Amino acid sequence: MPYTLPEALRGAERLALVVAFGRLSVLEACSTVKSVTKVEVPCERICVVELDPSSVRSVVKLAGIHKFSPLLTHFQGDEAVIRQLVQRITNKIDVSRLALSAYDTDEADYEVLVRLLLDAFREAGFKKIRLLRPKGNELFADQVLSRDALDLITFPYKGGYGLGPTAWVPDVAPMRERGVEKPVPHSGISLSPRLAQLLLNLSGLSPGQRLLDPFCGSGTIISEGALMSLNCVGIDSNPARVAQAKRNLAWVEKQSGRTLAYHVETGDARDFQGRFDGIVTEPILLPRFHSTPSSQKAKQLVNKPSRVYSESLYSMAEAVRKGGRIVIVVPTLKTADGSEVLLRLEETESIGLKEFQPGHVRFEYPVRVAFESTRWLGRAVYVFERV
Ligand SMILES: C[S@@+](CC[C@H](N)C(=O)[O-])C[C@H]1O[C@@H](n2cnc3c(N)ncnc32)[C@H](O)[C@@H]1O
Repeated sequence: MPYTLPEALRGAERLALVVAFGRLSVLEACSTVKSVTKVEVPCERICVVELDPSSVRSVVKLAGIHKFSPLLTHFQGDEAVIRQLVQRITNKIDVSRLALSAYDTDEADYEVLVRLLLDAFREAGFKKIRLLRPKGNELFADQVLSRDALDLITFPYKGGYGLGPTAWVPDVAPMRERGVEKPVPHSGISLSPRLAQLLLNLSGLSPGQRLLDPFCGSGTIISEGALMSLNCVGIDSNPARVAQAKRNLAWVEKQSGRTLAYHVETGDARDFQGRFDGIVTEPILLPRFHSTPSSQKAKQLVNKPSRVYSESLYSMAEAVRKGGRIVIVVPTLKTADGSEVLLRLEETESIGLKEFQPGHVRFEYPVRVAFESTRWLGRAVYVFERV
C-alpha cells in the first residue's frame, strides 16, 4: 500500500516532489501532471510544481518520484513559522515519531531546524515525540512506509528553506518484484520497470491506445505498458529475445490476474508494418566495462549503433500517428578524462519529428537519467512528437 497523509493536509497549491531520476523526473512531472502553472527546480533532488489542488491525484501517477509533500511553509529564520507549521499538522494528526528528510541542506541549518521542530512539537503538547535520525538525513520511501513516522522534508528555497510533510510515497515493491522475479529478470544494467513506467508516462498514451516497442528485448516496456492497459506490440530481431519477452509477459499476465493486450513477434525495427499512437523504446545497450573507457574508445562504442538508430527512427516516424510521441533512450558514457560521450539524434525535423516541449520549462534533449547506479554507462532520453 502507498503511504498517504490525510487529505486535509494536502490542499496546497505548491507541491515539492522528491525526484528519482533528476531532470527526467521533472520532464515526466511537466508532461503528466494536469494544470501545472509553474515549475521550479530549487536543487537537484527537488522539483516544486504549482498546480490546481484538484489535480493532486495525477501526481500519484508519476513513476519518477520518491515522495511528495505540500510545500506548507518557507522558513527564513522566523521561529513563529515553524510553530505555525507544527500547529497546522498537529490539528489534523497525532504524531509520536518524527523525521526531517533534508535535501541539499546545510548540516548546521539542519540541526537548527530539528531543534526548532522538536521545541514546537513539545510546546504543542507532544512531550514524548521521538526523532528518527535516518542515515544521510533522509527517510527513504520504504522507511516512510514501514516506520509509521511523520516525515517532514526540507530543501533550500528562495534564500531560506521550504518545509512540508510527506503526503505520499509510492509502493514500489510490486514493481521491484516484477523486475527480479519474472522468468527472465532484468540484469544490473537493463531498464527497470520503474524507468519503463516513466518512459510510458512520457508517451502521453491513454488506456486502449496502441504502443510499439520495436527493440523489445525481454519485454520490460511492453509488460509495463500492458499493465497500464495499453494495447502493446513488441518487435525484436532476435527470436530468442522474442521467446523471452513472451515468457515474461505470460508471467506478468498471470501475476496480475488480468487479461493483458499484447503481441510480440520477430522483426526488424528498420522495416515493419503497422500504425501506432506512440512508441517507447531502448534500442541498444552498450557492453559492461571493467575500467573507464578512454574518450576515443567511448566515441567508437557510441558511434557504432548510430546507423541502426537513424534507420529505425525513420521507420518509427512513418509508423506513428500525427501528434503521437516517440520516446527513445540513447546511451551515454563517462570517459577516463571525465568527459561524457553520448549518442545524439540529429536532423530529425527532416523526417517529421519535433522535440516535445510540455511547457513551463524548456528541456534540452537528450535529457539525462540521473542517479543511476552504473558507473560509466548511463542513459539519456529524447521525446519527439510527430508533426
Ligand atoms: C537494449 S535491448 C532492449 C531491452 C529491453 N528494453 C528489455 O526490457 O529487455 C535491445 C534489443 O534490440 C534488439 N535489436 C537489435 N537490433 C535490432 C533491430 N534492427 N530490430 C529489432 N530489434 C533489434 C536486440 O536483439 C535487443 O534485444
